[in-house]
Amino acid sequence: MELTARQFAFFRELVYRECGIDLHEGKQQLLMARLSKRLRKTGIAQVEDYLRVVASDGNERIRFIDAISTNHTYFFREDHHFALLNAGHRRIWCAASSSGEEPYSIAIHCLEQGFRPAILATDISTSVLRIGQSGVYPLEKAQRIPLATLKKYFQKGHGKSEGYIRLKDDIRRMVTFRRFNLLTDTPPPGEFDMIFCRNVMIYFDGPVKETVVNKLSRYLKPDGYFIIGGAESLNNLKHSLHFIRPSIYRKGS
Ligand SMILES: C[S@@+](CC[C@H](N)C(=O)[O-])C[C@H]1O[C@@H](n2cnc3c(N)ncnc32)[C@H](O)[C@@H]1O
Repeated sequence: MELTARQFAFFRELVYRECGIDLHEGKQQLLMARLSKRLRKTGIAQVEDYLRVVASDGNERIRFIDAISTNHTYFFREDHHFALLNAGHRRIWCAASSSGEEPYSIAIHCLEQGFRPAILATDISTSVLRIGQSGVYPLEKAQRIPLATLKKYFQKGHGKSEGYIRLKDDIRRMVTFRRFNLLTDTPPPGEFDMIFCRNVMIYFDGPVKETVVNKLSRYLKPDGYFIIGGAESLNNLKHSLHFIRPSIYRKGS
């Protein structure tokens, strides 16, 4: 499949406008691979026809953004951040939670420490949110989970669920999943003690990052932490958070 310069520019502009992801020239292969998948799924043969559908049909736009977003995540990723959590933290937000491994790891960590915050898990992609909501993961996902944790918080599937693990209901109840576009949506009322916004800003350019950081920091409590991924930084952006150490920022009191 080939894309004309005009078609590439159309998809690039659409993705940037809808979710802030910058599909620069180097991302053309990725766009084509994911677009081909979408064409096969919808049964649309020509890119030009798909382009018209995606421009006019909001549901297809959601599915297209689902196909474009990179949702890689795993249990207990960068878990050194969890040491910042304490019993005074009642409300936590995972603002690009993908399929739920991140919020569930936080929930397990907190329960192990003896407290039980409410965790809001949001993402733009509806397909990953469905996985998070189900709390069901392929057994390979268990590899990074310590055996004792696995036994305590997960159930192993049998019969037709063979090869899958499932979070126990008690953990699932701690996490609420919602679709939320970091660029355009307004979070539920109230402030958060800690916001995790990890490994998503890497896909954004400076102006989008700045908008997102400033927007999310408004929903942090005074002294609340704002956490980004280890490969990310807020350098050269205008914001009011205090730098604590790489990937950890804090709102003033
Ligand atoms: C690589 S995953 C990171 C998941 C998790 N935070 C972690 O660190 O493992 C990035 C997630 O950001 C989501 N995302 C991308 N653009 C977004 C936007 N504008 N609003 C909300 N979520 C977005 C993607 O759907 C994807 O699930």
